[in-house]
Amino acid sequence: MKWAHKDLIGIQELTAGEIGHILDMASSFKEISKRDIKKVPTLRGKTVVLLFYEASTRTRLSFEIAAKRLSADTTALSQAGSSFSKGETIMDAASNVMAMAPDCIVIRYPHAGIPRKMAEFLPCSVINAGDGYHEHPTQALLDMYSLKERFGSLKGLNVAIVGDIMHSRVARSNVYGLTRMGARVTLVAPKTLLPPGVETWNARVSTELDPVIPSADAVMMLRVQMERLNERFFPDIREYSTFYGLNRKRVEAMKDGAVIMHPGPMNRGVEITHDAADSARSIILDQVENGVAIRMTLLYLSLGGAANVD
Ligand code: CP
Repeated sequence: MKWAHKDLIGIQELTAGEIGHILDMASSFKEISKRDIKKVPTLRGKTVVLLFYEASTRTRLSFEIAAKRLSADTTALSQAGSSFSKGETIMDAASNVMAMAPDCIVIRYPHAGIPRKMAEFLPCSVINAGDGYHEHPTQALLDMYSLKERFGSLKGLNVAIVGDIMHSRVARSNVYGLTRMGARVTLVAPKTLLPPGVETWNARVSTELDPVIPSADAVMMLRVQMERLNERFFPDIREYSTFYGLNRKRVEAMKDGAVIMHPGPMNRGVEITHDAADSARSIILDQVENGVAIRMTLLYLSLGGAANVD
């Protein structure tokens, strides 16, 4: 398949065929990370700039590791330590970064829309590493890869996404991607954490977790985003955990072979207990491992790497 995209801003812009192509290619890239020497020359001479204006552990590190495993040069800038604190706008910063001739900018930003604006404005590839409540496309791709790896196909899978749907770019990207690939999604949250217009999303909605658990092939828990909750969306954390937390009893109610997912970072004791996070059903660290392979694939496709990865 010829890759037709300069940028990756959201899953919404990808066809099922393109998502399938990314997931298929990621297996070759995953194999590289299992070698003694985890490096191929595919993107030698290319420069990847990581602009992270919001905290990140997994996405930032895995993009950097992915780029380095493909021999690209990387440099990273976070909000702290940049000239943002001196009043420089993100678009001025982007123009200045562009003057240094990167081939790709990976951008995380606390507000929706900035990656798209940069992509329209800059000649290099732009990859969205999460923008506000909008999308986190690389997370959804690694989630879909992890499910496909476990179940063989996404078609017909029942995936429950549980928690703070309103503030979750992970939920949005996964609803777009999973349903496009033939999975069924059920969103579970208290009414106050469901976004306006959720009834127009291609997903079932439940305000109760217990009835959803037994039929789910995957239960994806979302972090309660304390930093975005500037008003009270539920009475208290203990009540939230009682009704919406994944605990040992709920794990025992899951069907044979069903898996537990979480994009991280986890609030242990809030949306997920230690028992659940560390249970044999958990594929949370597989998700992290697969994030490197997915991001290698996306850098390769975006930067027009060599024809093979040997
Ligand atoms: N899943 C995710 O985006 O994690 P980070 O915020 O640590 O990058």
